[in-house]
Amino acid sequence: MPAFPTTRCRPLPWALGLLLTLPAAFGARADPLAVPTLPAYQQECAACHLAYPPGLLPAASWQRLMAGLPHHFGSDASLDAATQQSLSAWLTANAGSYKKVARDPAPPPEDRISKAPWFVREHREVSAATWRRKSIGSASNCAACHGGAAQGRFSEHDLRIPQ
Ligand code: HEC
Ligand code: HEC
Repeated sequence: MPAFPTTRCRPLPWALGLLLTLPAAFGARADPLAVPTLPAYQQECAACHLAYPPGLLPAASWQRLMAGLPHHFGSDASLDAATQQSLSAWLTANAGSYKKVARDPAPPPEDRISKAPWFVREHREVSAATWRRKSIGSASNCAACHGGAAQGRFSEHDLRIPQ
């Protein structure tokens, strides 16, 4: 009868741990949009829409948006002064890391990601009628099409345009 000495199994948990942590580490490094999210950001800025990855806008845009929260695209998104300041500092520190924003850091019209020239170029195949579908609503609704948007993933692998 073949013997299976238990010593041969010992490296297994270690190797398994490595297998599980390595891809996560590489994934985080490969994708500059996947910043670990600040809980307060998730809490305050994901109530009406996605918590947009800070890397998708330049610092000047985040600062202006955070200074104008009482009149935020027709909504009142006011915060107390301390939360506003800490979120503004965090957004500024993580701003502009997406390569297309880094290349052209001019604030987009209305400080909207969805009005940046790179955004318009990337989405030129999406028709006006598609943007208006009930299942989508507007270009601001990233997660309608990008399954990994909340995790900062926008590659075509996670893309599905709803009917
Ligand atoms: C009370 C609801 C509400 C809250 C809370 C809110 N927003 Fe918004 N936000 C909106 C609306 C409405 C729009 C416009 C969406 C559209 O045009 O479809 C918007 C749009 C945006 C856009 C532009 C999206 C684009 O088109 O590129 C950014 C950036 C943004 N919000 C950031 C924030 C941040 C940062 C916070 C937290 C401090 C926040 N929002 C909290 C309602 C809200
Ligand atoms: C109607 C569906 C739809 C919505 C909503 C949408 N996108 Fe896209 N997005 C696309 C399509 C289609 C492409 C082009 C994919 C391709 O050709 O590789 C794309 C491409 C991109 C790319 C380039 C990906 C790459 O790997 O080069 C980024 C970044 C992106 N979108 C971000 C966003 C953000 C941020 C939002 C919200 C503010 C958004 N998208 C909203 C459909 C959508």
